[in-house]
Amino acid sequence: MSKIQATITGVGGYVPDYKLTNKELETMVDTNDEWIRTRTGIEERRILKEPGLGSSDMAVEAVKDLCKKRGISPQDIDCLICATVTPDLVFPATANIICDKAGIQNVCSFDVGAACSGFLYALSTGSAFIESGRYKKVVVVGVDKMSSIIDYSDRATCIIFGDGAGCVLLEPTTEDVGIKDTILRSDGNGRHYLHMKAGGSVKPATIETVLAKQHFVYQEGQAVFKFAVKGMADVSYELMQRNNLSANDIAWLVPHQANLRIIDATANRMELPREKVMINIQKYGNTTAATLPLCLWDWEKKLKKNDNIILAAFGGGFTWGAIWIKWGY
Ligand code: UT7
Repeated sequence: MSKIQATITGVGGYVPDYKLTNKELETMVDTNDEWIRTRTGIEERRILKEPGLGSSDMAVEAVKDLCKKRGISPQDIDCLICATVTPDLVFPATANIICDKAGIQNVCSFDVGAACSGFLYALSTGSAFIESGRYKKVVVVGVDKMSSIIDYSDRATCIIFGDGAGCVLLEPTTEDVGIKDTILRSDGNGRHYLHMKAGGSVKPATIETVLAKQHFVYQEGQAVFKFAVKGMADVSYELMQRNNLSANDIAWLVPHQANLRIIDATANRMELPREKVMINIQKYGNTTAATLPLCLWDWEKKLKKNDNIILAAFGGGFTWGAIWIKWGY
């Protein structure tokens, strides 16, 4: 009997309508369009402005989009995994809330916390469930409402992040397509460079933590940059080497959209030309767990069966990794 593999059979996405442009940011902090474009590649990002809406609301739209395109009902889904650093609530899991709002009932649903690499971790977990035969239709969501944890008076972070949601459906196949190989890494010592200072069990929210602006993203950009360039390029290269893949064999690199310079460094290490690299950072910024599925969403129509695709990410934790997918449709 042929081995059961997990393959992506559909993609969904959602970005809010509101566009926060570099020009508008110029009116908020001491920055300028030229600096942001040349140092990051970002031109605008989407922001979920409506009060009372959170990550689950964007994810539900993405899941609906996926179900409609794939022609399935939410009730057909038997597992939903959500990667996010901006859950609706500390608990319960945002995955539980997405299921409730989308009409997905009595299923296994839980959140994965691996920051910008969250989608890779969730995809790897979901594919293991499929390979084991435990579930048949696993939805993997990457969503973040970064605007909820960004200090819009801090120019070091507010120019980078945006809001959005993407998801994929994983199903079993015995064809030679799907999730072929995975490398996932972490180094908790990296927490010093990228974290949120309060709101967790070590330092619960108090009036003092709010006044000290400790519920926002804290990032030492240059340090993270150095680790990201090396981490993302290393695992992508390692994944190619151990699977005997040359640049010619690869149809697409799907890199985490944190900084155009990090994306270029990874592509260069893999000897891939820009035409083979999915880049949408200019219009969405860094949507953390949503960057990878939003790339797949934007490029879905261009993907062909048997295309070799490498997904790669680096982020808070530190966490990083790469996944090789042979596209299935
Ligand atoms: O997705 C999670 C993982 N995160 C990442 O991968 C992010 C990695 N880091 C980065 O992408 C970059 O470090 C940033 C985009 C955050 C910053 O770019 P940089 O090239 O590392 O800038 P820098 O922090 O070294 O600052 C260079 C200069 C400084 O001025 P001086 O000291 O040279 O006079 C900053 O004060 O740019 C200044 N600067 C700005 N100027 C205009 C910093 N932020 C801004 C700004 N606008 N927004």
